[in-house]
Amino acid sequence: MSAHPPVVIPQPTQIAHRPGAFTLRASTSLRISPGAEPAAALLRTLAGPSSGPAFPASPDGPFVLALDPRLTGLGAEGYGLTVAPDAVLLRAGGVTGLLRGIQTLRQLLPARALSGRPSPGAAWQLPCVEITDVPRHPWRGFMLDVARHFQPVSLLRRYVDLLALHKLNVFQLHLTDDQGWRMPIAAYPRLTEVGGRRAESMVGPAGSTVFDGAPHEGAYTREELTGLVAYAAARGVTMVPGIEMPGHARAAVAAHPELGAVPGRRVGVWTEWGVCDTVLGVHEPVFDFCRTVLDEVIDVFPSPHIHLGGDECPTKQWAASPVARARAAAEGLAGPEALHGWFLRRVGAHVLERGRTPVAWAETGEGLPPEFTVMTWREPEHTRIALKRGHAVISAHHRAAYLDYAQTDSPTEPPAQPGGVVDLRAVHEHTVPESDDTAGELVGLHAALWTEFVSAPEHLDHLAFPRLCAFADRAWSGAASWPHFHDRLTAHAPRLTALGVRHGPLHPHLPAPHSSGKEQS
Ligand code: ACM
Repeated sequence: MSAHPPVVIPQPTQIAHRPGAFTLRASTSLRISPGAEPAAALLRTLAGPSSGPAFPASPDGPFVLALDPRLTGLGAEGYGLTVAPDAVLLRAGGVTGLLRGIQTLRQLLPARALSGRPSPGAAWQLPCVEITDVPRHPWRGFMLDVARHFQPVSLLRRYVDLLALHKLNVFQLHLTDDQGWRMPIAAYPRLTEVGGRRAESMVGPAGSTVFDGAPHEGAYTREELTGLVAYAAARGVTMVPGIEMPGHARAAVAAHPELGAVPGRRVGVWTEWGVCDTVLGVHEPVFDFCRTVLDEVIDVFPSPHIHLGGDECPTKQWAASPVARARAAAEGLAGPEALHGWFLRRVGAHVLERGRTPVAWAETGEGLPPEFTVMTWREPEHTRIALKRGHAVISAHHRAAYLDYAQTDSPTEPPAQPGGVVDLRAVHEHTVPESDDTAGELVGLHAALWTEFVSAPEHLDHLAFPRLCAFADRAWSGAASWPHFHDRLTAHAPRLTALGVRHGPLHPHLPAPHSSGKEQS
């Protein structure tokens, strides 16, 4: 047994250390079973973009990538890994399992191997291990809000790599909100031309009277997004698009005033933070718009899930609108408030017709159509209610998974969502209410980074890490992986450094008790 057992985050289901090490060189040849080529391609990225050919294929190579559909016990993402002094055997029932195993191998190497600048002729020691590893939850997601502050696609690719390293498998892009629309839609070019730019941004939390006077803008090209989807897929990460409706839609209404609940009223892309009263209307052209937008979104993103937002939708404008009130009456709804669920049901039906599953944020635990996958965030109780109602549920409880909160109460923390601290332990202890009488299924956990107060990449890194390490440990390995987490994180940190991650504190002092209540979105 090695005196210093290798650390892998997330903690593998079973890991046994053996004496010795396998020496991995760029010249080490790979025995690749049919279908396992994507795992070889991912391993080869270790050699960096500028080096010559690495890890050539050979029928008698000592490094075996074995895809064996009979290994059904490992599920879609599990893998087995044996490192012996003279051979490496990575095996899985599906290619995604092999991709997860490659990430474990990357962590077993010296941290400098991850830098993308390997020295020519490097001989890396892989410690001998025997690992069997199967995830606890099939959905281990991360959401980045690129609507409040746009980020270039280069940053998104870097985050794909960081998520994949931690075996996180869903990357949701929050592409539209009151403050910006970031995805081009061919039939509606004004969405990005007008909706992709705001005149300035509020400084400080919702309700502040200070503005920065600086325009903020940005939008992706369709080619950037399709390239990102392929880049993520090669790493076993699914890009999930998020298009907000019927609230959080001010940028769309700024671009197309005819779509608002007060049709024709002109508004600017929102410059404030908080919950905006401007919502989409419920007249028929709005649904034509939603279907056209979602058809293009579905074209670009092959993801089985399409996130429709659905959160924080004030019904004030509908209540004041004779058109909306008449629509509610004609549909037999109790009142304009019920237009929210009705709206989502109609748009969700279109997503379902296209063979995809709609996802929405749970607001109250009630009201979402049963075919929706529900993402709960406000109250743990909503998770229990949604499970009982038979939904597929993803928990993103804000006290454990919202990375826009500060991670310590230190005055040196950069600007963060006010109202509390979400420390490493809170992230690791993300709990979901257990119940015997649930008809639904807990699909997994989701972390969210809203960006009202974040634009610089180093600030994003600071908020995301090391908390995503704790999140990954919890989502892949379960609660049992907490013991020694801090020690494991200390061993893991050089990998983050080698990858250029400007992470937050690894061992913060204990924060003050959480204050209660999320102040705004
Ligand atoms: C949310 O935080 N408004 C989902």
